[in-house]
Amino acid sequence: PHFTKGFADAPTFVVDSNEITGVISEVRLIFRDALYAAFPMASALGVKPAVTLTKDSKNGEFQCNNAMELCKKLPKDLGFRAPRDVATKIVECVPKNDVIEKVEVAGPGFINIFLSNAYIVKEMNNAVKSGSAKPTSKMGKVSKDSLTVVDFSSPNIAKDMHVGHLRSTIIGESVCRILEYQGHKTKRVNHVGDWGTQFGMLIQYLKEKFGENPKMEDVDIQDLTGFYKGAKVKFDEDEDFKKVSQTNVVKLQAGDEGCKAIWQVLCDVSRKEFEKVYSRLGVTVEECGESFYNDKIPGTIEELSALGLVVQDGGAKCIFVPGFKIPLMVQKSDGGFGYDSTDMAAISYRLRELKADRIVYITDFTQGDHFSMCFRAARMAGWYNPTSADVVHIGFGVVQGEDGKRFKTRSGETVRLVDLLDESVRRMEESLRERTKEGKGSIAEGDIRSTAEKIGYGAIKYFDLSRNPTSNYIFSYDKMLDTKGNTGVYLMFAYARLKSIIAKAESQHGVKVDATSPEFNMQMTHKNEHRLGFELLKFPDVLSSVTSTLSPSGVCEYLYNLALVATSFVTECKVLGSDEMESRLALCEATAGVMGECFGMLSIDVPDKI
Ligand code: ARG
Repeated sequence: PHFTKGFADAPTFVVDSNEITGVISEVRLIFRDALYAAFPMASALGVKPAVTLTKDSKNGEFQCNNAMELCKKLPKDLGFRAPRDVATKIVECVPKNDVIEKVEVAGPGFINIFLSNAYIVKEMNNAVKSGSAKPTSKMGKVSKDSLTVVDFSSPNIAKDMHVGHLRSTIIGESVCRILEYQGHKTKRVNHVGDWGTQFGMLIQYLKEKFGENPKMEDVDIQDLTGFYKGAKVKFDEDEDFKKVSQTNVVKLQAGDEGCKAIWQVLCDVSRKEFEKVYSRLGVTVEECGESFYNDKIPGTIEELSALGLVVQDGGAKCIFVPGFKIPLMVQKSDGGFGYDSTDMAAISYRLRELKADRIVYITDFTQGDHFSMCFRAARMAGWYNPTSADVVHIGFGVVQGEDGKRFKTRSGETVRLVDLLDESVRRMEESLRERTKEGKGSIAEGDIRSTAEKIGYGAIKYFDLSRNPTSNYIFSYDKMLDTKGNTGVYLMFAYARLKSIIAKAESQHGVKVDATSPEFNMQMTHKNEHRLGFELLKFPDVLSSVTSTLSPSGVCEYLYNLALVATSFVTECKVLGSDEMESRLALCEATAGVMGECFGMLSIDVPDKI
């Protein structure tokens, strides 16, 4: 038997389980009841209902796998010798329902479950008739009004955002949208690196380049990385420069107006560059950088010290966390505060001032230990416990070049984000022009550029979001811009195809379906219609699963399968001009509707026409 991964665990987080009425949970509930009716002791034996999706519909749509495990655990005197006997007993106890057509005991004791087509038609009819054309109508809203702080993007001032920040930005935006879709409150936090000893040299360098009192308008630094490097070289080579830089740090920390003003200019200049990327990608994030916590750090250290958690180690103040060799350093031996200090003040603020129910940090995986230590220290301080809040780090893998090494430009420089976005759009624009020249597609000349932007950015996002965040991936324009396979481009084409059918129905056949009218009823007889209906009816379950696992890749996986099934549907079932035109159009609309919601959660702005 083959199982589709992804739905093996029942949803756990905040959505009230009796409110989820996707087809997967319907079947799960039926088999939960059957299992407990057949074997009331199952739960005491530690056997939980296990219903999975099958890969091949000739074995039914679902499979219940409890019999094997249960058979081993049941007391011998009950007389169940083989798993097949156990399975038969479960089958006998399946309550009367209109969801399942038939069940079969197969192989060593699997239960194959076949969905009722009549049920699919009935549910799809209800869904489209509800007017939303999306089978979400029965979706309950989230029962708990929880707040999730999502710490993402978080680039560093006076440095360009790099492809790691791109991953954080893309994943973070999508995580927020998934939560918000279900009515959760989020606070999107950009923890920018706007504080630290590097500002001493940056202030000095800026003064030397743009005068004693540089104004934002006068400062034009397109190339932040070059600027940072220039300062660093000078710092390493020039003793005098180094000395003034160091006094600048002290002055800045002490609140010196002059230094603060220049620091502000540096922040504003960088912010302007970051904003360009955010607006291109449709990302919203609120800046609350390291400097915000600066005056909160001394109090935090005091509190941690009073709790007996802080140890003096070679002049520095440290917190040793069980299981880690290096400690968290909350104050350096020279009295300065660093990354660890800031994050301890930040976690305290988020849990106790913002009263976050959940905090999600999104950075590359190399920072995993840092966050584990912070979380552990916060728990040792009693700031939260696993039942009061959920604090997690999503650590993503490295983006690699085609050579398998860290992604760099040909000359070995880190790739600037803007260049990467430009390149994706450029290539897409080129291929769209090509298509138009060949007489394909339906984009007007004037829309080519904006369509290329949507697809270009969307393709990058999908390429990133569709994989498990912890894995490394090889950055490849060719792969991500491929019109075939599991790519954003393929999905956008599949979506546009549905949209174009809907548009043609109106323009060429004068038909616009009103599924809400009393006369309208879904007619679904073809197997591809049933398959598509089944796929659509999973949507509420997918939502609850991705919300509990915070997994954009779950949305991608669903979207891709939906697109495949929808493509077979429109390929094999004639829509335009057929007898079933209205009903089939309603299916197209429902599918486009659900796909649109998924694109939205992935923050992919999808064109209607390609
Ligand atoms: N600025 C850091 C970096 O570029 C990421 C900050 C992540 N957030 C945090 N609270 N430490 O790697």
